Amino acid sequence: MIAADQHVVLVGLMGTGKTTVGRVLAERLRRPLLDSDLVIEARTGRTVRQIFSDDGEPTFRALETEVLLEALLSDTPSVIAAAGGVVLSERNRQALQAATAKVVWLRAEPENLVDRVRTGVHRPALDDDPAGTLRRMHESREPLYREVADMIVSVDGRSVHEVAEAILR
Ligand code: S3P
Repeated sequence: MIAADQHVVLVGLMGTGKTTVGRVLAERLRRPLLDSDLVIEARTGRTVRQIFSDDGEPTFRALETEVLLEALLSDTPSVIAAAGGVVLSERNRQALQAATAKVVWLRAEPENLVDRVRTGVHRPALDDDPAGTLRRMHESREPLYREVADMIVSVDGRSVHEVAEAILR
């Protein structure tokens, strides 16, 4: 159950369906959807890829924190599709734990994500060796996702609607 005043925050690796599941949840709950990558792109007028290549990852991570904290502080209960890397910062993890929010970790075996990330132009980290990078990210981030999660939902072999139902149940 999602309480009326709670944000729903989707976290998880790239390709786990945070944005697509977020769209379904936002529609079902009649709430706005905030996709942190899209908010960053709208705000800066640049793509995630451009920010990574022109200014480097630390600049992108600072923008990511700014957008996440703002979204969590908003009085309008929303669905927040947080970018995969939000859990890397301790400050972000603390904010996720302190917020009035249900944090849902969309969990997948990394080998199941390789096909799903092919279309993602906003994922420069996966330009070389996506399978290996996803496996390494899964290993290093798994404890961080676990630390912030109020709920863990496996997405392996499930449709977007099945995942959304599991969250709403
Ligand atoms: C990243 C995930 C991407 C995007 C950037 C970095 C990551 O977002 O923010 O490429 O480090 O996990 P999605 O998780 O929405 O694909």
